[in-house]
Amino acid sequence: MLQDQFGRIHDYLRISLTDACNMRCTYCMPEEKTPCMPSSRLMSVNEIETLTRIFVQNGVRKIRLTGGEPLVRKEAREIIERLARFPVELTLTTNGVLADEFLDTFLKVGIRSLNVSMDSLRPSAFFSITKRDYGERVRRNILLLLDAGFHVKINAVVMRGVNDHEVPDFIELTRHLPLHVRFIEFMPFDGNHWEHPKVVPAAELLERIARDFSFVKLQDGVHDTAKKFTVLNHAGTFALISTMSAHFCSGCNRLRLTADGKMKNCLFSKNETDLLSPLRNGLDVEPLIRDCLNQKARELGGQLQPDYHKIDAETLKNRSMIAIGG
Ligand code: GTP
Ligand code: 5AD
Ligand code: SF4
Repeated sequence: MLQDQFGRIHDYLRISLTDACNMRCTYCMPEEKTPCMPSSRLMSVNEIETLTRIFVQNGVRKIRLTGGEPLVRKEAREIIERLARFPVELTLTTNGVLADEFLDTFLKVGIRSLNVSMDSLRPSAFFSITKRDYGERVRRNILLLLDAGFHVKINAVVMRGVNDHEVPDFIELTRHLPLHVRFIEFMPFDGNHWEHPKVVPAAELLERIARDFSFVKLQDGVHDTAKKFTVLNHAGTFALISTMSAHFCSGCNRLRLTADGKMKNCLFSKNETDLLSPLRNGLDVEPLIRDCLNQKARELGGQLQPDYHKIDAETLKNRSMIAIGG
């Protein structure tokens, strides 16, 4: 069992397969072109499997594959197939562009739930956020997944003046489609030009939603990042992920492994623990995992102020989101 100093049991591991992506979302990666990690620095398929085994032996029960975009990793299929053999709930967070090409693999290994990022329903805004013209394709793939019976959550990062006016349109989507839309407060990472006025706090969003819709609160799980609601008589739900205005760190059960094999004990941790080099040198990494978890801060990586208005993004020490995986 992996327990931190505050008694939180960690049974959910997010593994980033690559820091490459087929989109260029402004909130996720620096504008200036930074080269992707060379493949020699990435965990190989065998190394991912070995590290996963160690985490599973220590109580991990849920694994989410992330990126960059996990499905652009050359060996994505093989990794999915191998990890699906572990006694875990395996799932992915994807931008959805390649979901159609992987549908057979998902079905074959029993993946029936996916989180798909989509920040705008309008082609021009989709393009200006992602710098790619894949809006229609992502929409089509979301419908394809629903048709195939998947539980689909849409992740929309809400940024003031960029896409916040689209929130009612997203909720409208849940009227007839059994979709689960999650509105995420914009968070600061390396190179993403975060500043507090761009955040639309969950409470404000909820107030705005209440002008157009009558909704009820749904029950959340203790470890959930999202607070769920449903509009009366809608087929789907909506939810708010309020990291900036109301963090949910007390229920945190998440660990992260970057594509280059560094363990992060929090999304916002300054420090990382290299697991890959010791593994390559034949050392036992389990004590390193425990040490890393022992250093986990109570909240927000020990570096974000709970009052997000006071955060100076320039002083934060972290990676860009594309190199963490969310
Ligand atoms: P579920 O397993 O469906 O609950 O998904 P998830 O919310 O754990 O993962 P997803 O990859 O869909 O992430 C959605 C948003 O939640 C992203 O913006 C993530 O950065 C954020 N998120 C995920 N895990 C954490 C976390 O541990 N802490 C914080 N602060 N945000 C997180
Ligand atoms: N703030 C909030 N969420 C973000 N994501 C990526 N960058 C940010 C950010 N700066 C989300 C994406 C993806 C998930 C893994 O993380 O929408 O769905
Ligand atoms: Fe967990 Fe860190 Fe996220 Fe808080 S900010 S929920 S401690 S990963």
